Amino acid sequence: MNIKNQIAPKGLEFKANEFIISDKYATILTVVSYPKFISPGFLSNLTSMAGIKLVIKHIPLPFSTISKMMNKEIAELKQRYQEENDVTIQERIRQDYESLESFISMLAASQSHIYDFQMHIMITADSQDQLISKKIQVKSYIESMEMRAVPLSFEMEKVLKSIIPIFPKQDIEDRIGTPIPSNTMAAMYPFIFDSIKDPGLSTLLGVDFSGGVILFNQFLYQIKKEHNRVNANMIILGTSGSGKSTVAKLLLRSHFRNDSQVIMIDPEGELEDMARLYQGDFIDLGKGGEFGMINPLEVILDTDEEEAKNGLGYTVLTRTLQTLKAFLKYYSPDVTDDIVTLFSEVVIDTYRRFGIDFNTDFTKFNSQDYPTFKDVYATIKGKLLSMTEKTHERDIMERLELKIRPIVKELKYYFDGHTTIQPQSKFVVFNIREIMNADENIRNALFFNILKYAWGMTLNRNVNTILCVDEAHVLVNGNNALGADFLAQIQRRARKYNTGTIIITQQPSDFTDPGIITQGKAIFDNASYYIVMGLKKQAVEDLSKLIDLNDNEKESIKRYNQGEALFVCGSRRMRINIIATEQELESFGSGGGL
Ligand SMILES: Nc1ncnc2c1ncn2[C@@H]1O[C@H](COP(=O)(O)OP(=O)(O)O)[C@@H](O)[C@H]1O
Ligand SMILES: [Mg+2]
Repeated sequence: MNIKNQIAPKGLEFKANEFIISDKYATILTVVSYPKFISPGFLSNLTSMAGIKLVIKHIPLPFSTISKMMNKEIAELKQRYQEENDVTIQERIRQDYESLESFISMLAASQSHIYDFQMHIMITADSQDQLISKKIQVKSYIESMEMRAVPLSFEMEKVLKSIIPIFPKQDIEDRIGTPIPSNTMAAMYPFIFDSIKDPGLSTLLGVDFSGGVILFNQFLYQIKKEHNRVNANMIILGTSGSGKSTVAKLLLRSHFRNDSQVIMIDPEGELEDMARLYQGDFIDLGKGGEFGMINPLEVILDTDEEEAKNGLGYTVLTRTLQTLKAFLKYYSPDVTDDIVTLFSEVVIDTYRRFGIDFNTDFTKFNSQDYPTFKDVYATIKGKLLSMTEKTHERDIMERLELKIRPIVKELKYYFDGHTTIQPQSKFVVFNIREIMNADENIRNALFFNILKYAWGMTLNRNVNTILCVDEAHVLVNGNNALGADFLAQIQRRARKYNTGTIIITQQPSDFTDPGIITQGKAIFDNASYYIVMGLKKQAVEDLSKLIDLNDNEKESIKRYNQGEALFVCGSRRMRINIIATEQELESFGSGGGL
């Protein structure tokens, strides 16, 4: 066995307009006409198409040949101009020869080199049908770029030889080229070196594919206008172990150094070392009770002047009721609408007993002033006592009582009590590792409750805050549109408070569930940045329902190694390598990972 045997195709059969190479069907389209004007990086649209190969040859032409050729052409045009009777056509001919004349004088003045430019597009497919449809697709794409390409009939073999460097010159090469000056040709080439070097307080994320460093400022919009970079929200996606948490830690570290406030929901308890290093708060919420309690009934003061016109208390309380309904749905996904409505009424009654209604000034309230679930339960019990007859309403109330009972009994350490935590630092980590092992519904309800509280901590406009949520797919399930909507609201409202989000997930599919796709899309649409690390095929398909991905990107995402990513940064997108040094990895601690 020698190398020739290894690399030679198993078979090769040429037909009029296509050929079979090993087990693939292939054809080569030759470009025969180009647009009048092109913009830089013109061919990059074509090279990003999957399943095609582009071969370009350029052969230098002496200036004398070209000028002779063009002089002849001009002479012909002038001749036709004389003979033409139609004035419109005559005018077109005049324009053509004038542009040729100015072209020649431009060439002579700038001394550009002229090349005979030849371009072929090879398309391969697994079957003949696939080849036909692919060919139609490529052709129409090329037409939209104002080029025309055809297979050279009965010349497939010569064309193939022409594009493989080991063969001598083929005679077709004398017939197919288009003379193009070097500067136009340079603009054609698909290599656009785009990189990100943001001004301001940036993070060194890694390098782009050409080796240039990437300096990324998540809060760029605060100092500079750039297309589609209008907020500081980022979504990080990738399978387990692809490096999502590592890139998030790089960002959090530099945000902390830049004096932003950092708030993280940490399902793997992996930020302990960092929190210690930065003298932050590492709050363990898994054990409940005296270790750390967040009261689901505590009110978050998220409003703005616009909404406050309806009354500040009104907006705040309405929003609180929405989140409490969402909470109930996480805790009990099968809960029916009538119970949810009744729950909302019972909560309003309970709040009222504590002096809270739609006119309350919540700024004067402390954690101790809010009711807890025990009080909601008491309201239910009281109502049941007063309902002596067996009515439909009593029936619903009884079912609500059954739902709430466990919250004040066996689950009271998680849900029933005043908020006891008081984070002091600018680096706050909610460790919910223990919670992640709890029963799914309880886990989801707790996760949501903590998110709500964490969001409440980001509302100080005077500092930049980063709210980071790992394993965010837990919050998005098809059953709970209210919960997904809360996350979408955070995305929408964050900018108002000078807050940026980092939402990390390994399951884009959860965001496309029919029950919540509207919210899923909103969550993605309201992010200016995506870092897409390695993903499996199905996940890539799902992700492409949420953000635009071209075929080429889809193919490469499936093959990314750890630390490799597609970085969508506003309107720019590029392949990057996330680089974390040994020291950085060490300072991130031992937690997390695979
Ligand atoms: N860019 C990187 N450079 C070097 N090591 C990395 C990089 N990304 C991840 N790792 C290593 O892989 C481990 C798992 O990565 P992690 O970010 O926790 O993955 P994920 O959060 O996607 O599951 C990390 O603990 C780290 O040691
Ligand atoms: Mg992780």
